[in-house]
Formats: sequence, structure tokens, C-alpha cells
Amino acid sequence: MPEGSQSKARIAIFISGTGTNMAALLYASRLQEAAFEIVLVASNVESATGLELAKLEGLATFTHSHKGVTREEQDAAMERAVTEAGADFIVLAGYMRILSDEFVERWEGRLLNIHPSLLPKYKGLDTFQRAIDAGDSHAGSSVHIVTAELDAGEVLAQVRVAIAPEDSAESLAQRVKLAEHQLYPRAIAEYVSRGSDPDFLFAKLRELALALPETHEKDSHGSPGFRVGTEKSGKFFAHFSQQHHGSEHIAVLVKTSSMDELMGLVENQPGTYYKPAYYGASGWVGVILNRPNVDWEHVADWLERSWRQCAPSRLTKLLDAADQF
Ligand code: GRF
Repeated sequence: MPEGSQSKARIAIFISGTGTNMAALLYASRLQEAAFEIVLVASNVESATGLELAKLEGLATFTHSHKGVTREEQDAAMERAVTEAGADFIVLAGYMRILSDEFVERWEGRLLNIHPSLLPKYKGLDTFQRAIDAGDSHAGSSVHIVTAELDAGEVLAQVRVAIAPEDSAESLAQRVKLAEHQLYPRAIAEYVSRGSDPDFLFAKLRELALALPETHEKDSHGSPGFRVGTEKSGKFFAHFSQQHHGSEHIAVLVKTSSMDELMGLVENQPGTYYKPAYYGASGWVGVILNRPNVDWEHVADWLERSWRQCAPSRLTKLLDAADQF
């Protein structure tokens, strides 16, 4: 195993055609300190040119023709190959099949696509001609999270490409591809790294904490935390902890109901919880944020529980009333 490869995100790429975006991802993955490695290139088209390059470059490949099989069978075959390859993420790069809703749901948050338009404009096909016909000054490309609705998931990154007066759909497509080859590797690297990026994790946490009634942010012992109540007399219900006191965790510290509960959580789910230094002694548990597939709803539940323990009853009553709707 090459040095450092353990910490890299493992991605599978799905292609149906030339695979130039796959090539861009492949060579980006070969650069020093790349955030991801490609563990599989899979296709529904045996003759896809991209497969040849993948093989030449020593990547594992897989083909399963969609002809004569149901969407579910096709997806299942592709998924088996992905699972066997041990991929954490699936990246679509010109994969011309719509994936079943069940497949998309199972891979939610770990399935990305590149679409050649400035989304939300021009979902679907013929994006270049549509941009030219509309008289747009720019076309472009978008990297987005795949959701059940076509080309509608959260946009992670975009690149704009100027449209020349003499452009045809083909000439424009060629320039957009050049731009895509810059965009896709960078967007994927950022996305797969964000689970260990303290700024991203804190921003997510902050959004959830400040969505609770009468909350504000305040530093405590040099770390940001969140309080409920007034700026003057509020009480902390959550602390953000970034690799403090020798811990490797980035975490949110929240209040448990008892030391027994805290110890139970830490013993039974050591991948999710730990007992933090100092705060642990007063019943605060660390919910680890820098781990794969953090369930943010679970984090939100913990924040609310902790908030309830600290909030005055006039506020908890408000939340109880709101929860009934
Ligand atoms: C790209 O333009 C991409 O935006 C779209 O399909 C095309 C794939 O091209 N989803 P290639 O096979 O990567 O050259």
C-alpha cells in the first residue's frame, strides 16, 4: 500500500463514454498529497473509451451492460463492485444512466455528479445549445450532490465559461470540458476532506446550535461554545472542541443526564462518543464529529437535549409547543 494511502478517501467512478473527467480525477489522484484515490472505474458500456485508459493506468475496472436488465439489477451489479472495491464515495463522470431512488438514498451524501451547466439552469440534456439559444453570456459546469430529483442536489462548486458569438454547441462543449477538468478534482478533494475540516464542522454545528431558541455564541477557555438565554446570564449548552488536551477528536461537548449515561455511551459506542478532559468530570460527553458519515440529525438531537437541560422553562415550553406541529 503506498505511503499515506490509508487516510485517502476511496472513490469509485462511473462512466459511460470518453471519460476525460475520469482522466482528470485519475491524474489528480496521482499528485502528491491527493485527498482521494480511485479504487474502481465502472461502466455500463463495455466499449467506453475511458475504460481503456483506466486499465492502462492500472486501475481496477468493472463493466456491466444495462442492456436487457432492469434498472435495479443494473444498479445492484454496479453497487456490488463498488462495495467489493471498498469505495467510500461514488463519483459520476458522464454516467448516462439514471440511478434508482433506492440506490441514491443508500449513497446519499456520498454520491456526486458533474453537470455541464450553471445549475439551477438547464438541468437534463442539450445544455450548451440551450445556453446559446437563450443568449447567455456564460455557460459552465456544476458539481453537485446527487439526490433523487435529477440535477437538483446541493451545488458544491461551479465554473463559468464565456460563450463566444461564433460558438456552436460542440465548440462550447470542448471549452467547458477543459474547465471541468480543473473543477471536478478540486471539488471532490474539498468534499471528501470536509469531514475532517474543523472550519466546515464548526460551521455545520453553529448552524444547528443557533437554530435553537435564544442562543448565542460565546468563547469559553479559548474555544467557541453556545449558550442559551441572554448575553449576560446565558448558560452554556454546547462546547466545540478541536483536538484539545491531546485528543484526536473534533467534537461537540454536550450534557448527559448522569455519569452512568456518559460512561455507558463511551463504553458501548467508542467510535461516536468519548469522555472529554475536565468537562467529562461534570457529565459532559464528546460527540465526535471528525468521523465518516456523521449523522447531523443525531448531533442536532443532542444539541436540543443539552439545550433543554440548560434553558429556562419558559423556553422549553415554547419548544414543546412547537414540536407538536
Ligand atoms: C461532461 O461534460 C459532464 O459534465 C457530463 O458528461 C460529460 C462527460 O464527459 N456529465 P467525459 O466522458 O468526462 O469526457
